[in-house]
Amino acid sequence: MKEKTEFLEREYKNMLERGETWTIRSLNGPSQPHVIVEGRKCIMLASNNYLNLANDPRLKEATIKAIEMYGAGAGSDWSIAGCMDVHQELNKKIAEFKRTEAGITYQTGYAVNAGLIPQLAGKGDILISDALNHGSIIDGVRLTKADRGIYAHSNMGELETVLKNTEKKDYRRTIILTDGVFSMDGDIAKMDEIQKLADEYGAMTYVDDAHGEGVLGGGRGIATEFDLEKKIDFQMGTFSKAFGSFGGMLAGSEALIKYAYNTSRTWLLSAAFPPHVAAASLAALNIVEKEPERVKKLWENTKYFKKEIESLGFDTGRTQTPIIPSMIGESKKTQELAKKLYDEGIFCLAIVFPMVARGKARIRNQMNAGMSREDLDEILRAYEKCGKELGII
Ligand SMILES: Cc1ncc(COP(=O)(O)O)c(C=O)c1O
Repeated sequence: MKEKTEFLEREYKNMLERGETWTIRSLNGPSQPHVIVEGRKCIMLASNNYLNLANDPRLKEATIKAIEMYGAGAGSDWSIAGCMDVHQELNKKIAEFKRTEAGITYQTGYAVNAGLIPQLAGKGDILISDALNHGSIIDGVRLTKADRGIYAHSNMGELETVLKNTEKKDYRRTIILTDGVFSMDGDIAKMDEIQKLADEYGAMTYVDDAHGEGVLGGGRGIATEFDLEKKIDFQMGTFSKAFGSFGGMLAGSEALIKYAYNTSRTWLLSAAFPPHVAAASLAALNIVEKEPERVKKLWENTKYFKKEIESLGFDTGRTQTPIIPSMIGESKKTQELAKKLYDEGIFCLAIVFPMVARGKARIRNQMNAGMSREDLDEILRAYEKCGKELGII
């Protein structure tokens, strides 16, 4: 008899043939600009650690102190018995940092989108989403019975058409959902225009600031960048990227936060993250507030690298941020380039389907405030060599 699970191997083989599998590589130490990956010294070009905080001694010290004070785990869900002082302190700090009435942590950024979006809309409502929004928004939308409207990426004309059509249906609630910085292309949502349209049509706005925090608005994120701190209805984000720690966050009105934690199934039905994680996140927010030069350095690196890689002949798409893709197209070729760069001591990643559409494979180069000019030049030299060898440039 044929094995019932035989399909697993078959499907995996198909993915392998299409060049759509991940090779998971382990770091032999902390995530920082210079890393050791499976014994090889590399420059890290693939992490979200934009502000170089993941191995910051102050985050580590806060972590160790919190472990000594609170132990290793929270012992329960936040809703039951897992909420400790340090979690509450972080909740307060989120609101202060985002300049909103209130804030709260979730287990992850994914858990915010997957848990909250289904509680904001249901039958009789409509969720309007940018076509390139992150998968966690898509999953959140999929969990609702609300109608869906998708507009072509950052196309404000299409967004307005969708909004106009909502007027015919007499929806109870209309929410526009967008990434702040689009994670695969590095472009910034036209938040001012989105908010204006939302106000015009009586819609609410929901922004995923995962790649905008630590990057835009002096580090506070997209709402600060566009002076919309008091206007955007729902701001979510994560501590797992620029802030070098872990966990999701939500910021907004007092009413939102109370509603969110009383209804989000991800928040209610899953354990609190360990207290030391909250301590590290708190330390990170304090550092970002006190050291604006980090964000400045990140942008200096971004501008230099973008200009130089483009002058080598690589296409960086529509990026406006420290996410600077080199657009290649074909999955296998992209993986070949990533492999060659790895052999040259550059740790970067081929982003292939299903992370991006087929034929749109790329290497996602991500800047770090801790990178020196020498690091960037070394990466560029490797790109030139490998790009020529593969006939890309
Ligand atoms: C745009 C976006 N939103 C949400 C998330 C999820 O965040 P977390 O890693 O905290 O689950 C990510 C992470 O990949 C992301 O890129």
